[in-house]
Amino acid sequence: MSSQRNKADPKRVTRRAALGLLAIAGPSSIWASVIEPNFLSVTRKELTLPRWPKTLDGFRIAQLTDLHYRPGWDDTVIVKLTKTLKEEHPDLITLTGDYVIEDPSSLPELIRALKGISATQGVIACPGNHDRWHCSSSQLRKEFEGAGMAYLQNQGTHIHIKGESLFVNGLDSIWGGRPHLQKAWQGHRNDQSVISLVHEPDIFDELHLTRPLDLQLSGHTHGGQCRVPLLNYAPARVKYGRKFLYGHFQKEQSQLFVGRGLGTVGPRVRFACPPELVILTLRAF
Ligand SMILES: [Fe+2]
Repeated sequence: MSSQRNKADPKRVTRRAALGLLAIAGPSSIWASVIEPNFLSVTRKELTLPRWPKTLDGFRIAQLTDLHYRPGWDDTVIVKLTKTLKEEHPDLITLTGDYVIEDPSSLPELIRALKGISATQGVIACPGNHDRWHCSSSQLRKEFEGAGMAYLQNQGTHIHIKGESLFVNGLDSIWGGRPHLQKAWQGHRNDQSVISLVHEPDIFDELHLTRPLDLQLSGHTHGGQCRVPLLNYAPARVKYGRKFLYGHFQKEQSQLFVGRGLGTVGPRVRFACPPELVILTLRAF
Protein backbone atom coordinates (compact mmCIF):
# COMPACT_ATOMS: atom_id res chain seq x y z
CA MET A 1 0.00 0.00 0.00
CA SER A 2 1.19 3.44 -0.74
CA SER A 3 1.97 5.74 2.17
CA GLN A 4 0.07 8.44 0.23
CA ARG A 5 -3.26 6.58 0.63
CA ASN A 6 -2.78 5.96 4.38
CA LYS A 7 -1.87 9.51 5.20
CA ALA A 8 -4.90 11.34 6.60
CA ASP A 9 -5.62 14.81 5.40
CA PRO A 10 -5.21 16.99 8.56
CA LYS A 11 -7.84 19.46 7.35
CA ARG A 12 -10.38 16.65 6.83
CA VAL A 13 -9.63 15.18 10.28
CA THR A 14 -10.08 18.57 11.91
CA ARG A 15 -13.35 19.14 10.04
CA ARG A 16 -14.68 15.72 11.06
CA ALA A 17 -13.70 16.27 14.70
CA ALA A 18 -15.43 19.67 14.70
CA LEU A 19 -18.57 18.18 13.17
CA GLY A 20 -18.47 15.34 15.72
CA LEU A 21 -18.17 17.79 18.59
CA LEU A 22 -21.01 19.89 17.19
CA ALA A 23 -23.18 16.77 16.83
CA ILE A 24 -22.64 16.03 20.54
CA ALA A 25 -22.61 19.60 21.85
CA GLY A 26 -25.77 20.72 20.04
CA PRO A 27 -28.21 18.17 21.53
CA SER A 28 -26.33 18.20 24.86
CA SER A 29 -26.66 21.95 25.26
CA ILE A 30 -30.39 21.79 24.41
CA TRP A 31 -30.80 18.99 26.94
CA ALA A 32 -28.82 20.87 29.61
CA SER A 33 -30.56 24.21 29.16
CA VAL A 34 -34.12 23.32 28.13
CA ILE A 35 -34.97 19.80 29.29
CA GLU A 36 -33.02 18.80 32.38
CA PRO A 37 -33.61 21.96 34.51
CA ASN A 38 -37.37 21.30 34.18
CA PHE A 39 -37.13 17.63 35.10
CA LEU A 40 -37.91 16.53 38.67
CA SER A 41 -36.25 13.45 40.12
CA VAL A 42 -37.30 11.98 43.45
CA THR A 43 -34.62 10.35 45.60
CA ARG A 44 -36.00 8.02 48.27
CA LYS A 45 -33.61 6.74 50.87
CA GLU A 46 -33.83 4.97 54.23
CA LEU A 47 -31.41 6.07 56.92
CA THR A 48 -30.94 4.09 60.12
CA LEU A 49 -30.03 6.43 62.97
CA PRO A 50 -28.46 4.89 66.09
CA ARG A 51 -30.28 7.19 68.55
CA TRP A 52 -33.58 7.49 66.68
CA PRO A 53 -36.62 6.62 68.88
CA LYS A 54 -38.23 3.28 68.04
CA THR A 55 -41.71 4.79 68.20
CA LEU A 56 -40.74 7.12 65.34
CA ASP A 57 -39.40 4.39 63.09
CA GLY A 58 -40.58 5.29 59.58
CA PHE A 59 -40.65 9.08 60.11
CA ARG A 60 -40.42 10.67 56.66
CA ILE A 61 -38.65 13.94 55.86
CA ALA A 62 -38.80 15.78 52.55
CA GLN A 63 -35.82 17.97 51.75
CA LEU A 64 -35.98 20.83 49.26
CA THR A 65 -32.82 22.82 48.72
CA ASP A 66 -31.28 25.45 46.46
CA LEU A 67 -34.42 26.46 44.62
CA HIS A 68 -32.76 29.69 43.37
CA TYR A 69 -36.16 30.64 42.03
CA ARG A 70 -36.29 32.41 38.66
CA PRO A 71 -39.91 33.52 38.16
CA GLY A 72 -41.17 32.61 34.73
CA TRP A 73 -38.42 30.04 34.23
CA ASP A 74 -38.69 27.59 37.12
CA ASP A 75 -42.46 27.29 37.40
CA THR A 76 -42.64 23.93 35.62
CA VAL A 77 -40.42 22.26 38.18
CA ILE A 78 -42.18 24.01 41.10
CA VAL A 79 -45.58 22.72 39.92
CA LYS A 80 -44.16 19.18 39.68
CA LEU A 81 -42.60 19.60 43.12
CA THR A 82 -45.75 20.75 44.91
CA LYS A 83 -47.82 18.00 43.24
CA THR A 84 -45.30 15.31 44.22
CA LEU A 85 -45.09 16.59 47.79
CA LYS A 86 -48.86 16.26 48.16
CA GLU A 87 -48.67 12.66 46.99
CA GLU A 88 -45.75 11.80 49.29
CA HIS A 89 -47.40 12.92 52.57
CA PRO A 90 -44.11 13.51 54.46
CA ASP A 91 -44.13 14.02 58.22
CA LEU A 92 -41.81 17.03 57.92
CA ILE A 93 -40.74 19.27 55.05
CA THR A 94 -37.33 20.93 55.31
CA LEU A 95 -35.93 23.72 53.15
CA THR A 96 -32.17 24.07 53.42
CA GLY A 97 -31.52 27.45 51.87
CA ASP A 98 -30.71 29.40 48.71
CA TYR A 99 -34.20 30.47 47.70
CA VAL A 100 -33.02 33.43 45.58
CA ILE A 101 -30.10 34.10 43.28
CA GLU A 102 -29.73 37.87 43.64
CA ASP A 103 -33.15 39.50 43.43
CA PRO A 104 -34.83 39.53 46.87
CA SER A 105 -38.24 40.17 45.23
CA SER A 106 -38.21 36.58 43.95
CA LEU A 107 -38.53 35.33 47.56
CA PRO A 108 -42.20 36.31 48.07
CA GLU A 109 -42.96 34.94 44.60
CA LEU A 110 -41.36 31.62 45.52
CA ILE A 111 -43.24 31.46 48.83
CA ARG A 112 -46.50 32.05 46.91
CA ALA A 113 -45.55 29.28 44.46
CA LEU A 114 -44.90 26.91 47.36
CA LYS A 115 -48.16 27.84 49.04
CA GLY A 116 -50.08 24.72 49.88
CA ILE A 117 -47.13 22.45 50.68
CA SER A 118 -47.73 20.92 54.06
CA ALA A 119 -46.63 18.14 56.36
CA THR A 120 -48.07 16.82 59.60
CA GLN A 121 -45.13 18.26 61.61
CA GLY A 122 -44.79 21.42 59.54
CA VAL A 123 -42.37 23.09 57.17
CA ILE A 124 -39.01 24.32 58.50
CA ALA A 125 -36.51 26.48 56.63
CA CYS A 126 -32.95 27.72 57.23
CA PRO A 127 -31.05 30.34 55.20
CA GLY A 128 -28.45 29.82 52.47
CA ASN A 129 -25.55 32.03 51.50
CA HIS A 130 -27.41 33.67 48.58
CA ASP A 131 -30.34 34.51 50.88
CA ARG A 132 -28.06 36.15 53.42
CA TRP A 133 -26.18 38.05 50.71
CA HIS A 134 -29.31 39.47 49.10
CA CYS A 135 -32.15 39.40 51.67
CA SER A 136 -32.30 40.71 55.21
CA SER A 137 -32.87 38.31 58.11
CA SER A 138 -36.11 40.12 58.89
CA GLN A 139 -37.39 39.70 55.31
CA LEU A 140 -36.59 35.98 55.36
CA ARG A 141 -38.33 35.48 58.70
CA LYS A 142 -41.34 37.57 57.69
CA GLU A 143 -41.87 35.73 54.40
CA PHE A 144 -41.58 32.21 55.81
CA GLU A 145 -43.49 32.82 59.01
CA GLY A 146 -46.16 34.74 57.09
CA ALA A 147 -46.76 31.57 55.07
CA GLY A 148 -47.01 29.42 58.20
CA MET A 149 -43.50 27.96 57.88
CA ALA A 150 -40.85 28.03 60.61
CA TYR A 151 -37.66 29.94 59.87
CA LEU A 152 -34.66 28.89 61.93
CA GLN A 153 -31.52 31.02 61.87
CA ASN A 154 -29.30 29.98 64.80
CA GLN A 155 -32.40 28.61 66.50
CA GLY A 156 -33.98 25.35 67.48
CA THR A 157 -37.50 24.09 67.89
CA HIS A 158 -39.11 21.07 69.50
CA ILE A 159 -41.37 18.61 67.71
CA HIS A 160 -43.63 16.54 69.95
CA ILE A 161 -44.95 13.41 68.33
CA LYS A 162 -46.18 10.03 69.64
CA GLY A 163 -44.90 10.81 73.14
CA GLU A 164 -41.39 11.62 71.83
CA SER A 165 -39.66 14.96 71.54
CA LEU A 166 -37.29 15.84 68.69
CA PHE A 167 -35.02 18.86 68.39
CA VAL A 168 -34.79 20.48 64.96
CA ASN A 169 -32.46 23.42 64.53
CA GLY A 170 -31.26 25.65 61.74
CA LEU A 171 -27.83 27.24 61.57
CA ASP A 172 -27.17 30.53 59.84
CA SER A 173 -25.28 30.29 56.55
CA ILE A 174 -21.60 29.53 57.11
CA TRP A 175 -20.56 31.63 54.11
CA GLY A 176 -23.09 34.45 54.02
CA GLY A 177 -24.33 34.72 57.60
CA ARG A 178 -23.18 34.58 61.20
CA PRO A 179 -23.44 30.99 62.37
CA HIS A 180 -23.71 30.61 66.13
CA LEU A 181 -23.59 27.01 67.34
CA GLN A 182 -24.39 27.79 70.96
CA LYS A 183 -27.59 29.64 70.04
CA ALA A 184 -28.59 26.97 67.52
CA TRP A 185 -28.37 24.22 70.16
CA GLN A 186 -29.91 26.28 72.94
CA GLY A 187 -32.86 24.42 74.47
CA HIS A 188 -31.69 20.97 73.36
CA ARG A 189 -32.19 18.23 75.93
CA ASN A 190 -29.76 15.33 76.08
CA ASP A 191 -32.51 12.76 75.48
CA GLN A 192 -33.64 14.38 72.22
CA SER A 193 -32.57 13.33 68.73
CA VAL A 194 -31.30 16.25 66.68
CA ILE A 195 -31.94 17.12 63.05
CA SER A 196 -29.87 20.09 61.90
CA LEU A 197 -30.55 22.17 58.82
CA VAL A 198 -27.29 23.70 57.63
CA HIS A 199 -26.98 25.05 54.12
CA GLU A 200 -23.27 24.35 53.63
CA PRO A 201 -22.36 20.70 54.23
CA ASP A 202 -18.64 20.84 55.09
CA ILE A 203 -19.21 21.89 58.70
CA PHE A 204 -20.42 18.33 59.30
CA ASP A 205 -16.78 17.44 60.06
CA GLU A 206 -16.88 19.82 63.03
CA LEU A 207 -20.49 19.32 64.13
CA HIS A 208 -20.34 15.56 64.42
CA LEU A 209 -17.44 15.92 66.86
CA THR A 210 -18.64 18.86 68.94
CA ARG A 211 -22.47 18.74 69.03
CA PRO A 212 -25.16 16.16 69.58
CA LEU A 213 -26.18 15.51 65.97
CA ASP A 214 -28.20 12.66 64.54
CA LEU A 215 -28.82 13.99 61.06
CA GLN A 216 -27.58 17.04 59.18
CA LEU A 217 -29.42 18.10 56.03
CA SER A 218 -27.54 20.31 53.61
CA GLY A 219 -27.46 21.51 50.02
CA HIS A 220 -25.26 24.28 48.58
CA THR A 221 -23.24 22.15 46.14
CA HIS A 222 -26.05 21.50 43.61
CA GLY A 223 -24.34 18.11 43.27
CA GLY A 224 -21.98 19.93 40.94
CA GLN A 225 -24.97 21.05 38.76
CA CYS A 226 -23.27 19.63 35.63
CA ARG A 227 -21.61 16.25 35.85
CA VAL A 228 -19.70 14.08 33.41
CA PRO A 229 -22.01 11.14 32.60
CA LEU A 230 -20.78 7.60 33.35
CA LEU A 231 -17.76 8.98 35.25
CA ASN A 232 -20.17 10.81 37.58
CA TYR A 233 -17.52 13.48 37.90
CA ALA A 234 -18.45 17.07 38.81
CA PRO A 235 -15.85 19.62 37.68
CA ALA A 236 -17.31 22.49 39.75
CA ARG A 237 -16.79 22.66 43.52
CA VAL A 238 -17.94 25.44 45.78
CA LYS A 239 -16.51 26.96 48.96
CA TYR A 240 -17.73 25.16 52.12
CA GLY A 241 -19.06 22.35 49.92
CA ARG A 242 -15.86 20.70 48.75
CA LYS A 243 -15.78 17.71 51.10
CA PHE A 244 -19.36 16.47 50.70
CA LEU A 245 -20.65 16.99 47.18
CA TYR A 246 -23.79 14.89 47.12
CA GLY A 247 -25.56 12.09 48.93
CA HIS A 248 -25.31 10.22 52.21
CA PHE A 249 -22.35 10.31 54.59
CA GLN A 250 -21.86 8.90 58.06
CA LYS A 251 -19.35 9.67 60.78
CA GLU A 252 -19.63 7.89 64.11
CA GLN A 253 -23.19 8.45 65.44
CA SER A 254 -24.01 11.25 62.98
CA GLN A 255 -25.25 11.22 59.42
CA LEU A 256 -25.36 13.79 56.65
CA PHE A 257 -27.47 14.00 53.54
CA VAL A 258 -26.54 16.55 50.86
CA GLY A 259 -29.26 17.17 48.28
CA ARG A 260 -28.32 18.30 44.79
CA GLY A 261 -31.06 20.95 44.83
CA LEU A 262 -33.79 22.10 42.51
CA GLY A 263 -32.49 25.26 40.86
CA THR A 264 -29.41 26.64 39.18
CA VAL A 265 -26.89 29.43 39.56
CA GLY A 266 -24.97 30.96 36.68
CA PRO A 267 -26.30 29.75 33.33
CA ARG A 268 -29.62 27.94 33.79
CA VAL A 269 -28.15 24.54 32.94
CA ARG A 270 -28.05 21.14 34.56
CA PHE A 271 -26.43 18.09 33.03
CA ALA A 272 -26.49 14.53 34.39
CA CYS A 273 -27.58 16.15 37.68
CA PRO A 274 -31.36 16.80 37.54
CA PRO A 275 -33.37 18.81 40.08
CA GLU A 276 -34.12 16.66 43.09
CA LEU A 277 -36.74 16.17 45.76
CA VAL A 278 -35.30 14.09 48.59
CA ILE A 279 -37.54 11.85 50.70
CA LEU A 280 -35.75 10.30 53.68
CA THR A 281 -37.31 7.59 55.80
CA LEU A 282 -35.69 7.46 59.23
CA ARG A 283 -35.32 4.06 60.82
CA ALA A 284 -34.56 3.19 64.45
CA PHE A 285 -31.49 1.01 65.03
FE1 LIG B 1 -27.17 27.21 45.87
